Amino acid sequence: MKTLKLGIAGLGHVGCGLIDLVQRQDSLRLPGRVEVAGVTARNRSRNRPVSTDGYEWFDDAAKLAADDGINVFVELIGGSDGPAKVAVETALKSGKAVITANKALIAMHGQELAELARENGVDLLFEAAVAGGVPVVRVLRDSLAGVDVRRVTGILNGTCNFLTTEMLTTRRPYEVVLAEAQRLGYAESDPTLDVSGMDAAHKAAILAAIAFSADLDFSKVSVRGVDEVELLDLDLADRLGLRIKLITEGKITNDGVVCRVEPMALPVGHPLARVNGSLNTVRVEGEPLGAVTLTGPGAGPGPTASAVMGDVAKLFNPIARPAFGRADHHDVRA
Ligand code: HSE
Repeated sequence: MKTLKLGIAGLGHVGCGLIDLVQRQDSLRLPGRVEVAGVTARNRSRNRPVSTDGYEWFDDAAKLAADDGINVFVELIGGSDGPAKVAVETALKSGKAVITANKALIAMHGQELAELARENGVDLLFEAAVAGGVPVVRVLRDSLAGVDVRRVTGILNGTCNFLTTEMLTTRRPYEVVLAEAQRLGYAESDPTLDVSGMDAAHKAAILAAIAFSADLDFSKVSVRGVDEVELLDLDLADRLGLRIKLITEGKITNDGVVCRVEPMALPVGHPLARVNGSLNTVRVEGEPLGAVTLTGPGAGPGPTASAVMGDVAKLFNPIARPAFGRADHHDVRA
């Protein structure tokens, strides 16, 4: 039976969730065996919910990425540049498949990393980078490759959706609900990425790049967050029969692809208005499909780790398609 040897960089909520899945893989449906052949994290001595006893520790992510003892590098460090990017490039150049949950990295550098993966004949997979446990990347890239996609809308940040839902239903202030989102492992280590709309924008840009075979130019995505939404706004909207949600949209227009993220007040009966808490949802519209909607847990250690493990399972099969699908692309416009 084939064995994949993982090097895991980053042992926060998702990294620990992945180790938990590796340790109980007998209850999963993987096509082969998975071993943890090396780990690295900023703080080795931190108390973690899983045991890392017996794993080889590396003091540097790039050294782990280059190590001959691994054949899959799992990047869970985060950040669009710095150690995460260096380590991913190192892994790809040394012929290792890369799995990442890092939406900032893929939104900013996805095309160049995909090209590096192609040059080195290895896979670059990032299902966990968009919508946590909702399997949207591969569905959009592979299952919907026969659809001429015209529009992709969604709720792509669990923290913001949790905030707008919980503030209204529990009457708790913004800071208290945000602290709970952090405790539950929904928020980024820097939660301003969530509330400013940047995290959702990273994900929307990735989906647009796949859906429209578009070059990722993140600077052209228009972004507003929920950091200025107050309980008063949620209340007023509620009295008018509306729900405020942070909505993402990518669509194809005569001028090219337009991508935006902003809080919107939707009628309570609208399908997106009914997606509550940390749930995420993605609606893909195109021809000749019509529309399809995927909804599920969009944040948190378990769902996100399950998406990473789904990418691990995918690696038991040879490379199928380039990371973003088609090779020629449109430009993304604001
Ligand atoms: N901080 C992200 C969110 C985590 O709240 O959706 C999942 O990407």
